[in-house]
Amino acid sequence: EKITLSVIKADIGGYVGHSSVHPRLLETAERCLAASKLLIDYRVAHVGDDINLIMTHKYGVDCPEIHHLAWNVFLQCTEVARELKLYGAGQDLLSDAFSGNVKGMGPGVAEMEFEERKSEPVIVFAADKTEPGAWNFPLYKMFADPFNTIGLVIDPKMHQGFRFEVYDLIKNERVEFSLPEELYDLLVFIGAPGRYCIKAVYSKTTGEIAAVSSTQRLNLMAGRYVGKDDPVCIVRCQSGLPAVGEALEPFASPHLVAGWMRGSHIGPLMPVGLNQSAPTRFDGPPRVVAMGFQLAQGRLVGPQDLFADVAFDKARQTANEIASYLRSLGPFEPHRLPLEDMEYTTMPEVMAKLKNRFVKVGREVTKERFVDELGAK
Ligand code: 13P
Ligand code: 13P
Ligand code: MG
Ligand code: MG
Ligand code: MG
Repeated sequence: EKITLSVIKADIGGYVGHSSVHPRLLETAERCLAASKLLIDYRVAHVGDDINLIMTHKYGVDCPEIHHLAWNVFLQCTEVARELKLYGAGQDLLSDAFSGNVKGMGPGVAEMEFEERKSEPVIVFAADKTEPGAWNFPLYKMFADPFNTIGLVIDPKMHQGFRFEVYDLIKNERVEFSLPEELYDLLVFIGAPGRYCIKAVYSKTTGEIAAVSSTQRLNLMAGRYVGKDDPVCIVRCQSGLPAVGEALEPFASPHLVAGWMRGSHIGPLMPVGLNQSAPTRFDGPPRVVAMGFQLAQGRLVGPQDLFADVAFDKARQTANEIASYLRSLGPFEPHRLPLEDMEYTTMPEVMAKLKNRFVKVGREVTKERFVDELGAK
């Protein structure tokens, strides 16, 4: 019999600013989930200002009742957030009416349905101050890089490789790559994590799902970009899949991700323990927690706070050094994101104000020169 692991997350209001979640919101979420008869088990967690609902049940992915449950939890939390005047109360509930699925309504979703194995270790990764493309680099390393994952070389059940499902967030299309044969093709796309995001990874040996991320369509409201979706990702481990340590290893050398202050900067993704997950320096740097669980008939045995290990101290130190260096660049790229990727901009207003001061000095260079044949953003 199959079970479903659903992780649904939202920012319901920050305490203080965008740094953390007030304990009363977590209590409210706990109480709501405890009262539900739909779940086998659940945990309420948070990273920075994002609440994560980790739920197991038997209803499959995209189940309207489960999504509705999460939506109602977030609504209840919003009431508390409004009462406490938390920052951006209800921030991630973009719509007033629930329509059967929280996808595209603000909350992020990663879910997978599978037959529980004899032993079922899973990791729920959750990040704040970044976006779903942040998982591209670590998922690539976990499932495709033999220098990260020795299992690809020496585990007979991994040696065939993995299938990667990638979303184009601009054109709203999906495409699959079979690795290792199509490794170079895959990298052409996922090296641009603001547009192409790894949605899921499947074992070629068993066909089973191995990883899923909260990649979904861009957070647009009335056609306007309203911000980065702080992302979650589920990875199943061991026995034909990456060992827990292989799934954690990519985070030992912090990569650069988009997000941080005002969702408009590049910064290192810092792996942290659950009690270090509130970002405050320049609202960051972006961070990631890893909650390990053993599943037992759908029960969530855990979490084990995997990045609390002192072996990740060095990664934190490196991330802090990178953060200080990038901060020294202030408002300059590549610390500040390119114009089209920023969550906030004053460019239209400043442009309008200075319109009459721009003087033509030559012919306009056509846009086509700068964009690929797939079309401009
Ligand atoms: P144990 O010998 O502790 O089970 O570890 C095996 C393993 O796969 C570690 O990655
Ligand atoms: P969040 O996406 O975590 O709400 O952060 C937004 C922001 O502007 C931080 O400076
Ligand atoms: Mg916030
Ligand atoms: Mg956040
Ligand atoms: Mg964000």
